[in-house]
Parts: sequence; structure tokens; C-alpha cells
Amino acid sequence: MTSRTQVGIVGAGPAGLMLGQLLHLQGIDSVILENRSRQYVVERVRAGVLEQGTVDLMREVGVAERLAREGLRHDGIYLAFGGARHRIDMAELTGGRAITIYGQNEVVHDLIEARLTTGRPLHFELEDVSVHGLESQAPSIRFRTNGAANELTCDIIAGCDGFHGICRPSIPASQLRLYERVYPFGWLGILAEAAPSSHELVYSLHEHGFALFSMRSPQVTRLYLQCAPDEDVSQWSDDRIWAELGARLATDDGWRPNEGTILQKGVTGMRSFVAEPMRFGRLFLAGDAAHIVPPTGAKGLNLAMADVYRLAGALAELYKSGNEKRLDCYSERALARTWRAQRFSWWMTSMLHRSDSDNPFDHRRQLAELEYLVSSRAAMTSLAESYTGAPFDA
Ligand code: FAD
Ligand code: PHB
Repeated sequence: MTSRTQVGIVGAGPAGLMLGQLLHLQGIDSVILENRSRQYVVERVRAGVLEQGTVDLMREVGVAERLAREGLRHDGIYLAFGGARHRIDMAELTGGRAITIYGQNEVVHDLIEARLTTGRPLHFELEDVSVHGLESQAPSIRFRTNGAANELTCDIIAGCDGFHGICRPSIPASQLRLYERVYPFGWLGILAEAAPSSHELVYSLHEHGFALFSMRSPQVTRLYLQCAPDEDVSQWSDDRIWAELGARLATDDGWRPNEGTILQKGVTGMRSFVAEPMRFGRLFLAGDAAHIVPPTGAKGLNLAMADVYRLAGALAELYKSGNEKRLDCYSERALARTWRAQRFSWWMTSMLHRSDSDNPFDHRRQLAELEYLVSSRAAMTSLAESYTGAPFDA
């Protein structure tokens, strides 16, 4: 089977689905191709923090009805260390910018519903997806469905297939420059049936390492513990997890997370990664396919959204006037935002995690940094500005 579209999108994560919706609103055809099942994509528990820009974008493209109802707006966050919690009032420091808690799986769910409403193609469970002719005017995507070979010819291919996808590795190695830092720790994350005991997130540095208190709804708490990058989850009984979360998060004022049934457990490694440029011929990379940030800054999903907003604007220009100027600037402009987020995510990670190579000097330096941060309006403003994120620009 052969077919044709304007933009072939590889990957139905947040980046691919949002790009499809933005293109639809411009009257541009696309086909979204995903190798996992719909259920897998929707149930994968990942990000939870949406920047103001992401919330605004969801509203702009008409997929924010449930977000407006169920999303939890947070004006601040807490930093905890030395037994005390310190609130950073982000909204007050940034002229009203805030974050919204709404699970990535909910974002993906809402975007899939919107896509189905448009009637435009979205295919799951494809096998052997590969991209070809990237330097030609008619690049193509090949894949198999139930064993049958298919080829989709496109004007443009959008590589929205995440860090482990096939688009970035299809670019000749000589044409990419890779920047990477792998951290010597990971996060053990759990989802628990427990009412959040704090209205806002708590990022904590304890002598045992980092812990994070977050949430998904008024009934569900999301919690993370710093662990080894290859930590064996089976070594973590529910009791051990709650004991360690209590030790790392409880503060002297008596605050601690509520406990409840653990619904899900998982370990994620942490890395910073950038591939430059985010383009090869007619292939454009967006989101995790081009860059990864450690989750401490809560930037990954938001960067993916900022990328596709920019890419969709450039494609709209291409189809409206034949002008490729914005497309030609895409990589450079997207990378500028990426590197700002890389800097912030690395800084949050190094300030809040313990590493085996640290010595007592490093520990005191981390505490001094946190002390300074929570006592200086200038330092808090800097954190708040980066955490809530700059408005998206096309
Ligand atoms: P993905 O979500 O990875 O989507 C890529 C899609 O492509 C997937 O559906 C995949 O199955 C598909 N695919 C892969 N290979 C192929 C192929 N060969 N053919 C077809 N399809 C393919 N970010 C935040 O902003 N805030 C947070 O609070 C936050 N917390 C996080 C917590 C954790 C524990 C983790 C792991 C991540 C977190 N992130 C956070 C990061 C965020 O989840 C990612 O940055 C985001 O998923 C990127 O979206 P994406 O669409 O670029 O990639
Ligand atoms: C989450 O709720 O999953 C979450 C929150 C903040 C982070 C990372 C993840 O920095």
C-alpha cells in the first residue's frame, strides 16, 4: 500500500499529537504513526507539571475543557531542607505565572480524542517504522501493519518519536552533534491512593538524597525518591518506600505525606541530552527525539510542546506562501529554548541530589545554595521565571 500526506508524524506522544492538532487547525494534512498500542500510550505515567505556555496552547487548540475542570493550578512550590519547608511564591514573583498539575497521560488522552474527532489518520501498533529519502523533496515513511508493507510519501517528516525512536538515528552521524550527561542516580516513582497532604509540590534534599512530593488529583499523590540508576524495584516493599519517603520529606513542623495503597512503581534513569541541529533535510525533530532533560525541572513535556508550536507555525508559513524562512530557523530557535531548559534542569538536579562522588564540602555548598535561594528575592525570582517557563514564541 502506498499513500501520500503533507506532514508524516512519527510518534503519538504529546509532541506528535499536539503537532497533528496544530496542523489540522491550519488545514494541513498529516498522518500520525505510532508503534505502541493506544492503551500503552495513554496509560504510561510520566510528567505532571504543565507550564503556563502549555496550558495556554491546550486552550488555544481547543483541548483544554477537562484540563480547565480537573487541572490543579499551583502558584508556588516548596523547597525542603534542614527540617524546614520554604515556599516560593512563583505567581507573585513572576507577575502571575503559575503551573498546572495535570498528568501527561491525561494530556495524551485529550489529544487522542481531539484527533479522532477530526477524522484525520492516527495509527497505532505499527511495526518496523523507518524513514527514507530525507534529503529529497518527497521523503517517505515505511511501516508494516499486520505483516503488510506500507509506504507513506510526505512533503515533510516530523520526528516526534521520543528518545528511543528511529528518526534521530536515521540522520547520518556525521551530520549531528550530540551533547550528553548521564547522572549517577535515578528516580523511583510511585503513584499512591492518598489525598495530597500539601496543596503544592515539595522538592526536598535530605542526607539520604532527593525526594519529591507531587500529586495527580485530590485523591492521588505522586512521589519520587532518588535511587541508583539501575535500582531493582522488587527490593522496595511498600513499607520500605513509605519509611524512606517519610524520612526524606517529613519536616519539623509535623508535615509528612499521607500514605495509601501504592498503585504503580517504576524507576527512571536521568540524563541531559541534546542533538544538534534538530533538522536533516526534510526531517524535523521535536521533543524527546531531540533532547532529554532530567525531570527535576519538570521541563521535558513543556519543551516538546514549545518545539511543535514553533514547527507548526513554520509549516503553516510554508503552505501559505511557500516561504521556508521560518522552517530554516526552526532548529536554531528551538535549541535556544532547549539550552535554557537544560541549564535550569541541570542546576535543579545538582542542587537537590546527593552523589557518591560528593564530599562534605559539596553537601555544605548545596545547603548554602538552598539557604541563599530561599532568602533572596532575586534568586527566588530567577527560579520562578525558569520553572513557570517563558511564553511560547513561534
Ligand atoms: P514521548 O512521550 O516519548 O513520545 C514519543 C512517542 O513515539 C511514543 O508514544 C513512542 O511509543 C513513539 N515511538 C517511539 N519509537 C517509535 C517508532 N519507531 N515508530 C513510531 N512511534 C514510535 N516533563 C515535564 O515537562 N514535566 C514533568 O513533570 C515531567 N516529569 C517526568 C517524570 C518522569 C518519571 C519521566 C520519565 C519524564 C518526565 N517528563 C516531564 C518528561 C516528559 O515525559 C517527556 O519529555 C515527554 O514525554 C516528551 O514527549 P514526546 O512526545 O517528545 O516523546
Ligand atoms: C510529577 O508530578 O510527575 C513531577 C513533578 C515535578 C517534577 C517532575 C515530575 O519536577
